[in-house]
Formats: sequence, structure tokens, C-alpha cells
Amino acid sequence: MAARSVFRSGLFNGRVAIVTGGATGIGKAITAELLQLGCRVVIASRKSERLEAAVDELSQLIISSSSASITAVCCNIRHEDQVRNMVASTLRQYGRIDYLVNNGGGQFSSPAANMSLKGWNAVIDTNLTGTFLCCREVYNEWMKDHGGTIVNIIADMWRGFPGMAHTGAARAAVENLTKSLAIEWASSGVRINSIAPGSIFSKTAMENYKDLGPMMFQMAVPCIPAKRLGFPEEISPAVCFLLSPAASFISGATLKVDAGQSLYDSVWEIPDHSAWPAPPEGENVCALREVMKELKPKL
Ligand code: ADE
Repeated sequence: MAARSVFRSGLFNGRVAIVTGGATGIGKAITAELLQLGCRVVIASRKSERLEAAVDELSQLIISSSSASITAVCCNIRHEDQVRNMVASTLRQYGRIDYLVNNGGGQFSSPAANMSLKGWNAVIDTNLTGTFLCCREVYNEWMKDHGGTIVNIIADMWRGFPGMAHTGAARAAVENLTKSLAIEWASSGVRINSIAPGSIFSKTAMENYKDLGPMMFQMAVPCIPAKRLGFPEEISPAVCFLLSPAASFISGATLKVDAGQSLYDSVWEIPDHSAWPAPPEGENVCALREVMKELKPKL
């Protein structure tokens, strides 16, 4: 059962959207809300069985009087030819592309020192290069001449992303790409923005992180000012807002949807250590030593 949209029904009647990674997690919630609002949605994923399951489930949300529809395209966004095919087949089917939501992405948990080049490249290729390829293709084939709106889903990487350095680097790069494209494509009437979700719980995310999933989500809760995890249905309204005419003067921006998590605590523990370089000697270092000497017997 999908959450009910707060936006007015019919808001996206006659519009066409591509949602990458639209079959699961945050992407599925975005697709469900766009459908409720009358949009024709093309969902893209690498995995055909995920696409089929999502189409079966989400097509049941569409009421008979609605102009909404959902179709699926198998597409690995890392591959230029597959991205070309996704855009061409959408244009063949619907004759327009109003919205692109770059949600497809993925990562795995690993300290940076243990990451192989292959693992690093896979995450950069999907999250950064895949987003670039989708933006470029949709722009060249449609939005350059007709305008349109793009939303990139990034991450809470504002203080780095220890434990997932590859995705932190890729998502920060997408934020910067968003700003460049907002300027380069403004004269085509293209608006492009990013959304940076905090810790969002979904069944798919749990599956992706395998055994680490429950612990990762549990450890995040104390670091979230809301003292709970977020849900995909709390990201999709922000996407709908940025796609909608209510955001007609917003471009090149990033909207954090994280309950203030990025301003607060980090789950990454730094063990006590004495490996840090010593400070330059001087009166303040001496004064601190005296303070510490006095404190030590009391500890
Ligand atoms: N979602 C996660 N990885 C993806 C990929 N490579 N292509 C499309 N959607 C994805």
C-alpha cells in the first residue's frame, strides 16, 4: 500500500518521467507518488525481475480514470548504449520526457584502504558516470529543445563518508555536476537540483547491505535528531516538489532531507590513539601540560 501523496491529484497529468532505479526502495516510492499524480513513468533498472515485480505492484495503484502509466526498461546506466536505448524507447513510446530522476545507484561498505580498483570504479561508474550519461542523453535528445526538470538523488556526504568513501566521492561530484548543468542548460529551460537523503530504511537497502544492514541502521538512529530512520515515502514528496511548478525558481540547489542528521553526530568511531603529530612547543602547550598534570591525580 503506497502512502497517499499530499500533492493535488492530476498535478503531473500528461507528463512523462524516467526514474532510474525506479523498481525498489526510494525509486519505487518516487514512482508510486508520480503515478498517483497522473504521470506516465518509465522505470529503469539492471534487473528485469525487479522491474516486472514493480510494474505488477505499482500498476495496481493506477485508477481507471487516471492518465498515469508505468513501463519498464532494462538499462544499466553505466553503459552508454543502454542509456541511449532507454531514452530513445521512452521518446518512441511517449514522444516527450518532462522529468528525469537519477536515483539509480549503489555502494558497498568497506574501509577505503581495502577497496579494490574494480570496486571503486564500479561505484564511481554507477553513481557518477551513470548519472552524467542519463542527464546528457535526456538533454541532447529532448530537454535541449523542450526544457524539462532533473532531480539527482545523492547522499549525506557533507562530512565525508567514512566506510563508503567511493560513494561519498561520487555523490559529492554529482552535487557539483548539478550546479554546472544548472548553468549550462538554463537557456534551454532546464532546472536541475539534488536531494540528499539521510539514513533511509527500505527492504531493498537491508538486502543490499546483507548481514551489515540491521547493525548499520540500528547504529544510525542515535545520530539522527529525529531519533528514527527515514523512509522512502519521506523522500518522494521532496522529489515531487522539485519537479513541480512550485519549484519553478529553484535550480542548482541541493535539498537535504535528513531530519538534521548532517548537522549532528557521526556513526564513525575514531579509537583513542597517540599517532597524531605533536603540536609546536610554546606557552600554550606548556600551560595545557600543567592543567593536565593537575587533573590527572583527580581522574
Ligand atoms: N541501480 C543500481 N545500479 C544500477 C545500474 N547500474 N543501472 C541502473 N539502475 C541501477
